[in-house]
Amino acid sequence: MQDINEKYKRFEDQSKLAEAGGGADRREKQHREGKLTARERIHIFLDAGTFVEMDKFVTHTCTNFGMDKSIIPGDGIVTGYGKVDGRLAYVFAHDFTVFGGSLSRTNADKIVKITKLALKMGAPIIGLNDSGGARIQEGVQSLAGFGDIFLLNVKASGVIPQISAIMGPCAGGSVYSPALTDFIFMVKDTSYMFVTGPEVIKTVTHEEVTKEELGGAMTHNSRSGVAHFMGNNDEDTLMMIRELLSFLPSNNMEDAPVVPNTDDIKREIPELQELIPADPNKPYDMHDLISKVVDNQHFFEVMPHYAQNLIIGFARMDGKTVGVVANQPNYLAGVLDINSSAKGARFVRFCDAFNIPVVTFVDVPGFLPGTMQEYGGIIKHGAKLLYAYAEATVPKITVITRKAYGGAYDVMASKHLAADINFAYPTAEIAVMGPEGAVNIIFRGDADAASKAARVEDYRDNFANPYQAAQLGYIDEIIYPKETRFKLIQALEMTKNKSESNPPKKHGNIPL
Ligand code: HXC
Repeated sequence: MQDINEKYKRFEDQSKLAEAGGGADRREKQHREGKLTARERIHIFLDAGTFVEMDKFVTHTCTNFGMDKSIIPGDGIVTGYGKVDGRLAYVFAHDFTVFGGSLSRTNADKIVKITKLALKMGAPIIGLNDSGGARIQEGVQSLAGFGDIFLLNVKASGVIPQISAIMGPCAGGSVYSPALTDFIFMVKDTSYMFVTGPEVIKTVTHEEVTKEELGGAMTHNSRSGVAHFMGNNDEDTLMMIRELLSFLPSNNMEDAPVVPNTDDIKREIPELQELIPADPNKPYDMHDLISKVVDNQHFFEVMPHYAQNLIIGFARMDGKTVGVVANQPNYLAGVLDINSSAKGARFVRFCDAFNIPVVTFVDVPGFLPGTMQEYGGIIKHGAKLLYAYAEATVPKITVITRKAYGGAYDVMASKHLAADINFAYPTAEIAVMGPEGAVNIIFRGDADAASKAARVEDYRDNFANPYQAAQLGYIDEIIYPKETRFKLIQALEMTKNKSESNPPKKHGNIPL
């Protein structure tokens, strides 16, 4: 019979085996490549000393290809829970040193178990992905595991925040689960996402592409729009996730945490009086306006590299989280196009699902015209943003700074989509279209340049202003730019107990 010390020793040995993962050589390789190990990542991510590991001794059950000779306790994924800024969070991290972090049936069960707990307890789940996808040796068992995770990702969508970090080469199923979550972070130079890698692409389509071009962090942050954030390295990325979480509630039944506000709510911003150029064709940087208005000039931008004609992100007003959506006149004149519409729509829906009021700054000349946009389906993609704003029942506050033309006026959280408070600056231009376009159509065939110029001026005086909309009650208040901060805080305070719901239904049918 074993004495008690032998029993403890066995426990310690098993524990050490689990913590060693795929061994010292593979851990060193991970470090050489500029990546941390799964456990190092979790310890950096969570508040110090709060991590509680679960299923440390789970092993795979595969016997194919001699796999029964390669069994490591924990089997390539570390799962558990801990705290982020004192709040409960669940976490799983693929251990790339164990079969390339590939997903075995039992690894999938570990993720499912932790996600179900997160769902039951109403706390976010964060996945640190570093995985070659389905464990090839296990065949359909691994695919089944992925299927279970996908199903749960969808069930949890809109109930708890689900956040994914891509921290290594992620292929196959290991990119589809993140794609179902709310936000994807990638690490510069060390993370990749693709359904099929460069080798397969070369075989099938003869196309040659590097893995960086195909699925590196910048590719997905700026071209595909799959990823929302890019960190410089593992640690930087993990800190960014912590910051994102600080803006979010733990679940859809709670409000986001309120932080003590140190920024005067009545703070006037005189420089905003000069921000909007008198010349309507001159751009300005909407970031300047956003950062000056929000608490402590702190704006946490989401997808800063993608569809830069629309800015989205989180900030606080009087200590409370708001989601900001804003046209960016500095990029493509702030037009709405396919990418910016989809970007904005998903963000508005996230805010609505998690009780985060939406503040919208409008300076939009309209939708981007052209065959590329039409063939690409701007009608259906633009409709996404329309749908998202119309469906959202969280407080919606809108400020028109300058242009609000045509359909884009309606889309950008107008009164007609049930925004609660609509402000306009005296510089606002709210009309069916810009003066030149309007005169060209109304006075088609009139080639006299002098009379055209006079008519453009006449149209500008009569229509390119906020007064017709204000007369009709579509604008609640015309405000000075310098008072934007206090006006927004007052509106957010007034709407904080808003209670509105859409007609009962199974779910709507957003144009996808
Ligand atoms: C089992 C795997 C594995 C996998 C990697 N390994 N991927 N083992 N199943 N899917 C093992 C390798 O054999 C190696 O073992 C170790 O992990 C490290 O892999 P390397 O290739 O040496 O690393 P690297 O050069 O960095 O390349 C990483 C990689 C590459 C890009 C991920 O390994 C790769 O392409 N793997 C296969 C990707 C893939 O096609 N997965 C299936 C996707 S299909 P040793 O012992 O040498 O350390 C899928 C289906 C679900 O996921 C789809 C649902 C929609």
